[in-house]
Amino acid sequence: MWGLSPRAGMPLLLLLAPPLLIALQLLALGSRLPAGARSWWGAAAGGPRDRAVVSSVISIDPHPRGARGARSHPPPRPGALEEMREKMRDAARAYEDENEWQERQMGPRALEVQLWASDKPSFTAELSRIIAYIARPQLNCSRVYSPGQAHAIQPPAASAHWLLCAENWLLPASDRPCVAYSFRMDGGDADFLRTVSRLGCEVHSFDPSNSNASGGSPGNSLASNHSDEVGVSQHKMWLDWRTRKRRRHKTRGNLVSASQTLADIMAALGHHTVHFLYADLLSAEWRVFQNWIEAGTLQNVHHLVATIHLQWAGFEVGGNSEEVLRYWFSVLRGLQASGLKLVHSYAGEGHSVLKQTVTDAHSSYTLTWVNTRH
Ligand SMILES: *[C@@H]1O[C@H](CO)[C@@H](O)[C@H](O)[C@H]1NC(C)=O
Ligand SMILES: *[C@@H]1O[C@H](CO)[C@@H](O)[C@H](O)[C@H]1NC(C)=O
Ligand SMILES: *[C@@H]1O[C@H](CO)[C@@H](O)[C@H](O)[C@H]1NC(C)=O
Repeated sequence: MWGLSPRAGMPLLLLLAPPLLIALQLLALGSRLPAGARSWWGAAAGGPRDRAVVSSVISIDPHPRGARGARSHPPPRPGALEEMREKMRDAARAYEDENEWQERQMGPRALEVQLWASDKPSFTAELSRIIAYIARPQLNCSRVYSPGQAHAIQPPAASAHWLLCAENWLLPASDRPCVAYSFRMDGGDADFLRTVSRLGCEVHSFDPSNSNASGGSPGNSLASNHSDEVGVSQHKMWLDWRTRKRRRHKTRGNLVSASQTLADIMAALGHHTVHFLYADLLSAEWRVFQNWIEAGTLQNVHHLVATIHLQWAGFEVGGNSEEVLRYWFSVLRGLQASGLKLVHSYAGEGHSVLKQTVTDAHSSYTLTWVNTRH
């Protein structure tokens, strides 16, 4: 774990947002957020009556106990996270203008914070609600693609990490282009890449630690198109949840532009729709999902496979455990409100939720949704 350099102060805090950010002091940030963001944080932290109270300092440990083993296998390439952290540190040093970032991007809808699960905040009630929600698929697919299967099969495929709903009305027409994106750092998405390649998709793989991507060029990693032997275009790029102001976009180095919102990546690659999207964002998923909900990006995502991590609050998420659980639940409901229906849920290893050991929940889940609204 590394701390923030005191020298860099606030600008650093704002800049370190890309997913491998290690510590963020919300307390300090609170006074700097625009009014909308402040009230959102206030609402998330303490309910509408408590807006002024921004949650306490959160200190983010990238490897909470149990977290390492809890991700689905294979484990990250040794040193990948360390390397990434080192790079982010360099990026932060090189990048000191906090004004370059917008705090948040509000799109057509704001994330609606759900009511508490019971009369008053309760860890057990909040946890039961979110786990019950995760466990209950909202759509039964009659045929599915699952990892390692060349053809669609009939469910159940309960033990599958993920599955893609193979209903004809949910698949891209065979005479139309198909696009698939995968965000993952440890190569654990190989099955997904194979499956979507077989479906005839143009496949893009995003991994900020992949030194092979972008042909090794230090430039914008979306501009170049380095394909590996199976035709997957590899990009040294990661997902961000905030939009960078375009004005000074070009003046900064590669490291900072190594993270962009999904909407910006799609625009840069000329894709209106992503038919299949896979993401293991190492706890950045909550704020990234919020960005997709608020920016309306999900309208153009048809199938989503994503791992959610419950061991700790996640990047840039603050509050006590009850508040965090309620925020997570609100995000999942926001995905549903955007048209996504849960079709599959796979429980990862470990039983640690927000650093507490719980028997009837897991530290991570890989969830599959399908967008029924396109
Ligand atoms: C899916 O199938 C299961 C088992 O048959 C059933 O219990 C469940 O209600 C179904 N879900 C939906 C959303 O139709
Ligand atoms: C990079 O390329 C080398 C040689 O082509 C290969 O052995 C290695 O697995 C690649 N690394 C990644 C992360 O793709
Ligand atoms: C990148 O390369 C792949 C495979 O060669 C190709 O299908 C795709 O159209 C290319 N994309 C761009 C943006 O050039």
